[in-house]
Amino acid sequence: MDKEQNAIDILKQYNQTHITNLLNKLDEEKKQELIDQINKIDFHQIMELYDNTKKNIEIKENIIESIPYLDKLKLSKEEKEEYDKLGKEIIQSGQYAVVTMAGGQGTRLGHTGPKGTFKLDVYGKGKYIFEILADNLKEANEKYDTTIPWYIMTSKENNKQTVDFLEKNNYFGYNKEYITIFMQGELPLVDTEGKLLISKELKIKEASDGNGGTYSSLRESGCLAEMKEKGIKWVFIGGVDNVLLKMVDVTLLGIAIKKQVQIASKSVVKANPKEKVGVFCKINGHPKIIEYAELPEKMAEERDSQGELKYGESNIMCHLFTVEAIEKISKETLIYHRAFKKNSYIDETGKEVIPQEPNSFKFESFIFDAFEFFDDMALLRVKREEEFAPVKNKEGADSPKTAKDLYEKYWKKMKI
Ligand code: UD1
Repeated sequence: MDKEQNAIDILKQYNQTHITNLLNKLDEEKKQELIDQINKIDFHQIMELYDNTKKNIEIKENIIESIPYLDKLKLSKEEKEEYDKLGKEIIQSGQYAVVTMAGGQGTRLGHTGPKGTFKLDVYGKGKYIFEILADNLKEANEKYDTTIPWYIMTSKENNKQTVDFLEKNNYFGYNKEYITIFMQGELPLVDTEGKLLISKELKIKEASDGNGGTYSSLRESGCLAEMKEKGIKWVFIGGVDNVLLKMVDVTLLGIAIKKQVQIASKSVVKANPKEKVGVFCKINGHPKIIEYAELPEKMAEERDSQGELKYGESNIMCHLFTVEAIEKISKETLIYHRAFKKNSYIDETGKEVIPQEPNSFKFESFIFDAFEFFDDMALLRVKREEEFAPVKNKEGADSPKTAKDLYEKYWKKMKI
């Protein structure tokens, strides 16, 4: 069918006639761009997500329990040696790759540009977050006499800026042949009436679909096939914004191998019941993380007989998967979480509206929602001061200031 007619029919079917009106006002080039965009969007999916915003969340009879974990500090010397040896073999034989999720908007930090391009004020001279990550990987390469393939996930919004920045800085000395940048998907933003927002570029306004998009983007971009071709067996997937993130941990890898599980992750003890971190648990016998925005206050406060928070194993976005696990997950549909946010848009008169109050829904899937597809996982509790220094907010907790202090303290200690 004619592309234009098809787009018009879709808009009518899904009650988006404000977009049809816009189409009629555009010049030929812009019109074709919008038609192409309309034909690519899954309107059925987005309307289903919107309809769900009007329903009450279904209360299922779930059995939620705390999750077993190993404490890195409490491993015996023999255990640690055994795990490290198993992990080391994988790294040294080139069966390990690293993925950095860098598609987020980083709105809370107030930095214009991708988070990885933020310069943390360390040692007077400062270091970019991407530089910190590159240095961390280079150190592991030296230690294990290898070059670990590094995949960086960007979004449509920040891909060009990320690529330009890394090019300009010569990938901070990382062998460019081992770096692959791939893009994640997007979903339209929807207002409270179910209408898709229009952007300043006179297109349908879309935003990244959450870090759960990592799996399908790895497959669709061809990265997963490439990993398999290279003989990679284990893939680390981590966030971009923790300047103490350990992307190559032979102990964690060894534990996963020994335990014969397909996924593993690390946790730190939750600082206080209100800390903005997801927490690990088991739901109906399967591993899970409940995100901070969705954790009921009562659960957040609950303590065990030792006085520790019952749901206190916090997610530091330090995940490990077998290639098979990623492949399996990439073919499943993850649930979408919604966030009601302030998003500017162009109204029917062509004027930009900058809302003062939340006006629209953003839909995101979370990387850890895939844990539930597995019977078990390995979880390793590590020391916060050594592995968790997030850069999230402009000021206060998890800010550049707290991250700088933690980073400098850690490296000072390491050098003594
Ligand atoms: C995240 C975790 C939270 C954890 C906390 C620790 C998720 C969903 N939440 O929360 O459980 O305790 O970090 O610091 O993982 N990203 C993309 N594409 C997107 C959205 C995000 O690549 O569409 C990336 C970001 O660049 C970042 C990571 O995912 O590296 C986390 O994103 P963010 O939305 O900042 O999560 P938090 O709320 O900080």
